[in-house]
Amino acid sequence: MLRVIAIANQKGGVGKTTTAVNLSACLGSLGKHVLLIDMDAQANCTSGLGFEKSPNESLYPVLLGEGILEEKIKETEYDGVSLIPSEFDLCAAEVELARMSFDAGTGDPDQHLNWLKDALKPIVKRRRFDVVMIDCPPSLGKLTLSVLIAANSLLIPLQCEYYPLEGISSITDLMEQLKTSKVNKNLELVGVLMTMFDSRTNLSRMVVNEVREHFGDKVFRTVIPRATRVAESPSHGKPILYYDPYSAGSVAYETAAGELINRLGLA
Ligand SMILES: Nc1ncnc2c1ncn2[C@@H]1O[C@H](COP(=O)(O)OP(=O)(O)OP(=O)(O)O)[C@@H](O)[C@H]1O
Ligand SMILES: [Mg+2]
Repeated sequence: MLRVIAIANQKGGVGKTTTAVNLSACLGSLGKHVLLIDMDAQANCTSGLGFEKSPNESLYPVLLGEGILEEKIKETEYDGVSLIPSEFDLCAAEVELARMSFDAGTGDPDQHLNWLKDALKPIVKRRRFDVVMIDCPPSLGKLTLSVLIAANSLLIPLQCEYYPLEGISSITDLMEQLKTSKVNKNLELVGVLMTMFDSRTNLSRMVVNEVREHFGDKVFRTVIPRATRVAESPSHGKPILYYDPYSAGSVAYETAAGELINRLGLA
């Protein structure tokens, strides 16, 4: 089964994009074939892999029914990693999805939320990829909802700061709702990844303990440290594994990728 992983948290700046880019690169280096989809109009995955934003290269035309998903796939210079970029036009996706829901009138008003799930069907069939990783925008709007409908795994990055659990029930409740309503009964929480851990403070340790109390084994054993090299690497268009392979941040993402492979049953 193709693993389709949504990297989501409605909170901004928690490390979603950094995690999506770096786990993709590490999975690729471990021999997996990964398709990374940038589903955020900020296009940080796109620039983080060294791509320029250019018109018509995001999935927005596919949402509109103009073109197919496979045409949007770009090869990257990193082993095993392909990318579907984003650009500004994805800003319009939220409005477009709302309009489609309105136009559906008395029909099924939520049918259009299946657009991504449907667009991924040929990829599922062709078995070219082991993992599809989707970087979500910082909201639980209709775009994120369509990702959660297309996905079978949810990975939630949480920052090691005050109240990381604040608001987290919005996304876990949404996941449960999608499952119980059978809109997406396959969706599972693959894990919670703690990011930006600062070993100099007790706060980070307290936060990790609190999150482990709440989520138990769902929390990755690997914790991602706060590291300048990790923050620098996107401006060089490189995942940390290629920017500074022996740095603490790189080692942490490699370990987390190994853990993810086990959690997904892809070993
Ligand atoms: N482990 C880390 N060490 C240091 N800086 C980090 C680390 N992880 C992420 N950052 C930095 O924190 C900021 C937010 O990270 P990132 O863009 O991955 O979060 P995000 O959840 O995708 O944000 P948004 O919600 O805006 O999409 C970025 O500037 C990033 O470089
Ligand atoms: Mg992001």
